[in-house]
Amino acid sequence: MTALRSGRLAVVGAGAIGLSAAREAARAGWRVTVYDPAPATGASWVAGGMLAPVTEAWPGEEDLLALGLDSVARWPEFARALSDETGTDAGMHPAGTVVVGTGSGDRDELNSLAGYLESLGRPAQRMTGRELRRLEPSLGPDVRGGLSVPGDPSVDNRRLLAALRAACERLEVTVDERAVTEVREAGGRVTGVGLADGTGAGADAVLVAAGAHSSALHPALDGLVRPVKGEILRLTRRAGALPPPSRTVRAVVDGRPVYAVPRVVPGHGDLVVGATTAENGFDTAVTVGGVRDLLRDAERVLPGIAEYELTETAAGLRPGSRDNLPLIGRIGPDGMFVATGHGRNGMLLVPVTAAAVAALLRGQDVPDAARAADPRRFAPVGAERS
Ligand code: GLY
Repeated sequence: MTALRSGRLAVVGAGAIGLSAAREAARAGWRVTVYDPAPATGASWVAGGMLAPVTEAWPGEEDLLALGLDSVARWPEFARALSDETGTDAGMHPAGTVVVGTGSGDRDELNSLAGYLESLGRPAQRMTGRELRRLEPSLGPDVRGGLSVPGDPSVDNRRLLAALRAACERLEVTVDERAVTEVREAGGRVTGVGLADGTGAGADAVLVAAGAHSSALHPALDGLVRPVKGEILRLTRRAGALPPPSRTVRAVVDGRPVYAVPRVVPGHGDLVVGATTAENGFDTAVTVGGVRDLLRDAERVLPGIAEYELTETAAGLRPGSRDNLPLIGRIGPDGMFVATGHGRNGMLLVPVTAAAVAALLRGQDVPDAARAADPRRFAPVGAERS
């Protein structure tokens, strides 16, 4: 691998991952062009915004937990720096999360989560329904118990995107709305990107950050990332309705997961309710069943939302990887990098991913927690890892 410390960088994808990486690269002296036919409108725009390393934790995914904990620790400084730099609040909301259950089966699931977290030395505070309602008066009487997880905050994803776009603009990052169809190479090194209009654009390095669309851009990524659809709702409080919760509420209702994330500054709803999970290729239709399930389950937990206005329904495509860890690192020809496959944790993993890309572009090692996300873990047996 030839080290390249600056030059022309093409970033494919103007979501939160692509824009934050573009910002880091531009600060390091790269001339950056971000390609996206619809900047900042994909999964990053639809996201709920939970920064939830603990409440998204799953037994067997300890590398992902470690990566998430590293990233959540970076979030306050990342948000502060971005806000200072742009004069645009990056939207981080420090209030934590409560995880609640309704029926006895749901409480068993929460007990398993609590036990798992205790086994990792990250105990969550178990609470009765009454204690939870004292903390969050918006919770309804069907909530029987749960956990408080103060370390899982949230971000207003749309404020974050606005701040990242402002930062990129200040750093003279070019946003090109032509669609990229491929990463081009010659002699084992990237030469640029091919565009849907049949032309191409030269680059010394290419970062693929195209979310669920990444796999199609180079054969080395074939089959590594797939779309996982999620539907969300945005609800806006009307006069006379109860206030939304002050922190994220995650719930299991008759076995179905649902979450509600408050937005502190109105503009795109007061509460984001999500999210369904389905694997139907690149379909982004919002279904009647998806909206019905989310509304029914959210209302069981937060009855006051019956008086809210349903102001938006949307669907996005999470970029799912084979092992739920993202792909952050070098892969394919010299000069090609990837930052995708963030699955359910895209917003959470923005700061650590941006730091990892910055290190890679400097020819340095990624942060320790990001080493497990090296995309070459999927390389065919015997393939070289330089
Ligand atoms: N992180 C929440 C979701 O993917 O729905």
